[in-house]
Amino acid sequence: MEGQALDFDGPYGRDYAAIIRRSVPAYDALLEIAAAALAAMAADAAEVLVVGPGRGEELPGLLGALPGARFTLVEPSAAMVEACGGVLTAAGAVQRCRVLTGRLEDCDDLQPGTFQAVVALNVLHLLPPQGQELLLRQLAAAVAPGGSLLISGYSEDPDPTTDALLLAVARSRLLQLGTEPLTVERLLASRGASVFGIEAARLQQVLTAAGLDTPRCLLQGLATRLWLSRRPDGSGAAPTAAGDGRHQTPG
Ligand SMILES: C[S@@+](CC[C@H](N)C(=O)[O-])C[C@H]1O[C@@H](n2cnc3c(N)ncnc32)[C@H](O)[C@@H]1O
Repeated sequence: MEGQALDFDGPYGRDYAAIIRRSVPAYDALLEIAAAALAAMAADAAEVLVVGPGRGEELPGLLGALPGARFTLVEPSAAMVEACGGVLTAAGAVQRCRVLTGRLEDCDDLQPGTFQAVVALNVLHLLPPQGQELLLRQLAAAVAPGGSLLISGYSEDPDPTTDALLLAVARSRLLQLGTEPLTVERLLASRGASVFGIEAARLQQVLTAAGLDTPRCLLQGLATRLWLSRRPDGSGAAPTAAGDGRHQTPG
C-alpha cells in the first residue's frame, strides 16, 4: 500500500527506496524472485520490456539475470527516468538499454509480440480497474511466443475473512516498523483511492483471453503478489525452463 501523494517527480519519488520497502511487504524478496524467474524461464531472451521501473530498483537483478538481452524501459516520470539512468550507468548497462519516457499506453513504436520477457512490478495497482485492464492487455500483447510476463502488485483477497486478517497483520507490521499511527491509517486509507487492488480472477481472465497461460503466484507478502504468466510458443511443446532440455543435444 502506498500513500495518497504518489508524485513520482516530487518527495515521494525522492524518498522512494524507503517508502516502497515500507509499503510493499517482502519487497526485496519480490525483486530477487522476479530476477530468478527470468533467469529460469527466459535465459535466452533477446528483448526485455520493463514497464514502470521507477528508480530502477529491479534493474540490477534483471540485467544480471539476462546478461545477453537488450532492455527497453518505459517510464513516464522524468525524475524516475533520471534515477534509472544512474542505475544503468552503475551497472555498465547503458549500451544495451533504451529508455522511453512516457506511459506504455502512449508508446506506439513497440512491436507487439517481440519481447521474450515483459516485467511490470508494482505498476498496475496505481490504476483503477479499467486502466488496469487496458495496461494488462498491452503488457500481454508485448509478450513473444514462448515469452514470460511478470506482474506484481497489491491484490486483496476475495474472501472477506482472509482480507480482514491480511489487513490486521499489515497494520501491525507498519506499527512494528515504527510508522506513526496516523501515517498507518493514511496508508491503509489509500486502498481504493490511489491504490486499486488487482483482482486475481480478472487478471487470469484478461491474460488467458490474450493467449497467455494461467498466471502462477510466485510470491505473496500479505496483499502483495508476484505472478508469472507465459505465452505458449505455438510448437505444441510445453513451456520449458532454462536447463530443462532446450540446450541439450538430441538423443
Ligand atoms: C510504484 S512505482 C514501481 C517502480 C518499480 N517497478 C518498483 O517496483 O520499485 C510505479 C512506477 O510506474 C510508473 N508508471 C505509472 N503508470 C505507468 C504507465 N501507464 N506506464 C508505464 N509506467 C507507469 C510510475 O511513474 C512509477 O515509476
